Amino acid sequence: MDIERYLKDMQEVVNRALEDSIPENADIPESLKASMRYSLFAGGKRLRPVLAIAASDAVGGKRENVLPSAVATEMIHTYTLIHDDLPALDNDNLRRGKKTNHKVFGEDIAIMAGDALQTLAFQLMTDQSKVDIPAGTILQAAHEMASAIGASGTVGGQVVDLESEGKKIAKETVQYIHTRKTGELIKASVRTGALTGGGSPKELGALSNFGEMIGLAFQVIDDILDIEGSEETLGKDIGSDLEKEKATYPSVFGMEESKKIASDLVDSAEKEISFFDEKADPLRHIARYFLSRTN
Ligand code: IPE
Ligand code: IPE
Ligand code: MG
Ligand code: MG
Ligand code: MG
Repeated sequence: MDIERYLKDMQEVVNRALEDSIPENADIPESLKASMRYSLFAGGKRLRPVLAIAASDAVGGKRENVLPSAVATEMIHTYTLIHDDLPALDNDNLRRGKKTNHKVFGEDIAIMAGDALQTLAFQLMTDQSKVDIPAGTILQAAHEMASAIGASGTVGGQVVDLESEGKKIAKETVQYIHTRKTGELIKASVRTGALTGGGSPKELGALSNFGEMIGLAFQVIDDILDIEGSEETLGKDIGSDLEKEKATYPSVFGMEESKKIASDLVDSAEKEISFFDEKADPLRHIARYFLSRTN
């Protein structure tokens, strides 16, 4: 299959749906709307919504049923990026090739924009009028998403990330941080596609494991790119982790070992979904792409 084509097509589908969810004339205070739209349309790769769609495709789901949840994953992700860049957290200047949100709108509005994107995500994914799936399925997907990004998920991981700065940390700690701060949302994105697509328990189990493995691999590669990537291609500050003495895979395991860990995780992830037919090919290709990406 032509994965480039698939990614491009799905990114367009996602971008259109995002545009519909916060139109320019939405009834939102102007500064807040501008701040939300600024980061949302700054040019992200849309990998989490594309993963949700690809997981739905893999289990034979309908596009229109996964779209609200897919859009929600990107809103949640964008909120985490806005907050992650704040001076109180990573204090970064560049994101998606543009000035970070707080640099343009101020910390007050940036914080509020993150909050608003997070709640809008749940508003959208629980809107029953947009989908033709059982209410119980929507409830489960929203419940799982909330668990994945809360105190035991993304937020918890971010806290341990911050508290580990400048410290010598154990391998288990960096694995904990990465699984939570990044892995949980990626896994939940895959699961939300599988759930809204009506996947069987066997399919859901395999896709969960797949999501967990590629989720961790994604953050390991992110750490590697912070060292080996180029600011221009990546669209964010390079060397940011070294400067803040962050707990990263290269700092704990070394560069070569980190690359091997990421590649082994993707191999194992692929094995998890080997019983799927060609409808899972986009998922297989996206997992491979995680290893070769340069931004
Ligand atoms: C960056 O995520 C933040 C991490 C969780 C590592 P992405 O690399 O998916 O960022 P965008 O959405 O393409 O900007
Ligand atoms: C990303 O970790 C975690 C979240 C945004 C939740 P990083 O701090 O490494 O992400 P980048 O490198 O700034 O995108
Ligand atoms: Mg961070
Ligand atoms: Mg950061
Ligand atoms: Mg990083």
